[in-house]
Amino acid sequence: MNLVFLGPPGAGKGTIATAMKEELSIPHISTGDLFRSAIKNETELGKKVKEILASGNLVPDEVTIEMVRERLAENDTENGYILDGFPRTIFQADALQSMADIDAVVNFDLETESVVKRLSGRRVCKSTGRTYHILYNPPKVEGIDDETGEQLIQRDDDKEDAILNRLEVYKKQTEPLIAYYSEKGLLKTVDASSAPEKVLELVLAVLKK
Ligand code: AP5
Repeated sequence: MNLVFLGPPGAGKGTIATAMKEELSIPHISTGDLFRSAIKNETELGKKVKEILASGNLVPDEVTIEMVRERLAENDTENGYILDGFPRTIFQADALQSMADIDAVVNFDLETESVVKRLSGRRVCKSTGRTYHILYNPPKVEGIDDETGEQLIQRDDDKEDAILNRLEVYKKQTEPLIAYYSEKGLLKTVDASSAPEKVLELVLAVLKK
């Protein structure tokens, strides 16, 4: 099953994709994670996109599409995948259509106030990408990753100015994809405001329909 997860920043796409990849035995492909890994490894791509990610703006379409094209060509995608954070513009959606058959687009619906709370409280383990929330999903020891014992960090783009910019970018460039996929009959909207276990249940239920 080839799935796209759509929704505002911080709606819980990554959290649910991480749980679902086990359930469906398909890879979770997050363009945000791919860019962050390139930044961490100081590759040419990483150097090019570092400032863009910190500000909350979008990486140029051509760069993003090429990265996704290469990732989808890997062997582990044969039985399907969850694309998280791609496409984010109509141009990217048109490009995706020419490279893959998408079975469903799950739209994570969450109001702005909750989005801001989730993003501002998110903490991550830099080496593994494991995600926590200071209130909703705290680590066992404050500020420390449960498994590696490393210090948790706040993503640069989870600071206030970047959050506001990401929300604006989402409204202008990504939200139009809701109508785009609705017209194609692929859109499945899920209320993302409940606890992760409940949201996972809702996503699995809409996909079974
Ligand atoms: P990316 O990493 O994709 O950021 P995003 O879409 O803004 O998504 P997030 O990772 O912030 O949120 P999420 O929905 O996965 O939420 P999460 O599960 O972590 O992209 C980063 C940047 O990369 C972009 O700004 C751009 O620069 C670039 N980029 C990426 N893709 C691109 C593209 N296609 N084109 C161009 N540029 C691109 O949850 C958030 C928090 O809430 C966590 O703390 C979590 O613990 C908590 N939480 C999750 N679910 C729940 C719940 N149900 N209840 C309570 N708390 C919850």
